[in-house]
Amino acid sequence: DMGGHDTYMHKEISEQADAVDRVLRGRIDDRFSTVHLGGLNLDAREARGVRRIKILGCGTSYHAGQIGAQLIEELARIPADAEPASEFRYRNPVVDPDTLYVAVSQSGETYDVLAAVQELKRKGARVLGVVNVVGSAIAREADGGTYVHAGPEVCVVSTKCFTNTVVAFALLALHLGRIRDLSVADGKRIIDGLRRLPEQISEILAGEDEIKRLAAEYADAKSMMFIGRVRGYPVAREASLKLKEVSYIHAEAYPASELKHGPLALIEPAMPTVAIVPDDDLLEKNRAAMEEIKARSGRILAVAHQVQEKADHTIVVPKNENELDPILMGIPLQLFAYHTALAMGRDIDKPRNLAKSVTVE
Ligand code: F6R
Repeated sequence: DMGGHDTYMHKEISEQADAVDRVLRGRIDDRFSTVHLGGLNLDAREARGVRRIKILGCGTSYHAGQIGAQLIEELARIPADAEPASEFRYRNPVVDPDTLYVAVSQSGETYDVLAAVQELKRKGARVLGVVNVVGSAIAREADGGTYVHAGPEVCVVSTKCFTNTVVAFALLALHLGRIRDLSVADGKRIIDGLRRLPEQISEILAGEDEIKRLAAEYADAKSMMFIGRVRGYPVAREASLKLKEVSYIHAEAYPASELKHGPLALIEPAMPTVAIVPDDDLLEKNRAAMEEIKARSGRILAVAHQVQEKADHTIVVPKNENELDPILMGIPLQLFAYHTALAMGRDIDKPRNLAKSVTVE
């Protein structure tokens, strides 16, 4: 049942304020400015002993894991990174007892992720799951974890589950942070930010008509460049994946800082750029990157917290705490990908060559 929407993708994008509300519900502890995640199976002493976190997933879940790794480093100050599960499991990784492994999956059935979890467990590692589908293979195989509570996701292209997975990582990061060195004040600051998300998501979704107009403006592109820095970079990668999956327009994502090391050669009017420009300590650096693109006659669509003069168009998104900005900045670009694909007559819920859960190698 699409509830009045023309596609599941549109329905699922539109459900995100409620979905985020669901992942937060019942977990916030105002007294200690922390969150409780019932199924983690990791007590405070064990959490303090974690020296590294390695996040494994595929596709969109891998991108959510990249933002998750940044959140964990920022809030809990534990070294963390994300890697495609498929690559991890074939490079004979060093499995370290002080590392906590986190497997991320919407379906909980992705074979490469499941196989990585099984290999890790065979070697005695502790593995948590950040999974959407309750009782799925990865959820069962993990030592503990947290459910993402996005609700059923039918469209092959993941949208609401991406957002909820990142929020689930923010909760995990806050939980670990408050067991370690995150202050009460910072814990409260992040909690207040989390509580603002559902309303801010509704605000972004209310701008759909404008995003649809912008999608038409860029629909002639043969290829698009997506750029961002640090917090904005995984957002750029995910937005680029969304556009190519659903519209079949070629897209690339780069850290804005890498442009001058090669990809700047591609910039011309037929290759527009989408720039993720949060209002944080890298704002001036991002502005400089946009200037470089303008100097090569590139068109720019910015996603930012204020109108960007260097850009041809800006989608303004509401500001949250710096650490939580990536949760919101990708949402307008889900709508951008959707409207581009719709105008091109694509099979939005079932893009060619793709399957919802990849249970084969
Ligand atoms: C992207 C997409 C895929 C999946 C990937 C992992 O929109 O749907 O890239 O994210 O196949 O799937 P899960 O999260 O089910 O493990």
